[in-house]
Amino acid sequence: TAASDSMALRRAPALLGFQVQACQGAQTAAAVAPHLKKFAIYRWDPDKPGDKPQMQTYEIDLNKCGSMVLDALIKIKNDMDAMLTFQRSCQESICGSCAMNINGVNMLVCTRRIDYNLSKVSKIYPLPHMYVIKDLVPDLNNSYAQYKSIQPCLRKDESQEGKEQYLQYIEDREKLDGLYECIVCACGSTSCPSYWQNGGSGVLMQAYRWMIDSRDDFTEEWLAQLQNPFSLYRSHTIMSCTRTCPKGLNFRKSNS
Ligand code: FES
Repeated sequence: TAASDSMALRRAPALLGFQVQACQGAQTAAAVAPHLKKFAIYRWDPDKPGDKPQMQTYEIDLNKCGSMVLDALIKIKNDMDAMLTFQRSCQESICGSCAMNINGVNMLVCTRRIDYNLSKVSKIYPLPHMYVIKDLVPDLNNSYAQYKSIQPCLRKDESQEGKEQYLQYIEDREKLDGLYECIVCACGSTSCPSYWQNGGSGVLMQAYRWMIDSRDDFTEEWLAQLQNPFSLYRSHTIMSCTRTCPKGLNFRKSNS
């Protein structure tokens, strides 16, 4: 109809404009020079007979990659080497599964920006001094067993269970700030020379977090639990944990 013809004519310039824009966009993308960055990544499959740890180098164009180190790893796995093995889940520094060591520093790679200095190779290793399951995946069974050993939960008089709410004053709740945020990623404990040597003290801060909770009824039991040669006194306050923690938590607070 005449009405629909005139409507089509009115739309035409807008559509044409879109095509011109798309064309210009394509030309601009073609003109952008590649931003090539090298990543040297620890590779080892202990289950493969004869396999030895080695660093494998990959080069990617940062123009075609997200800005975080995890984006680079995902790109390498998707486009270049499907066998590269690493862990990740939330991509928001909540789950702690993407903890790795980059250029000697433990960190969460999902929230760590790629170093845009193209002349510098980013070296990526699994968390240090841990058994390796494959490539960038460390065996965290020992860490989890240590965490489980402190029974990280409120300990209450069971006779009161289900009868009342566990209330807390605001000032008591504030004492947990800087402690409750720990996501048990193991960046702190695996950066500690004492932990490498003795394997203890990795969960002291979590123990402290529950011990000082005003709603917990078992402070004495908590304290007694830490009186053994492989927990409290294995911390030598070297403070690598505090320097390393990707959440910026201060472990010194729980050690003092
Ligand atoms: Fe969850 Fe990095 S993917 S903390």
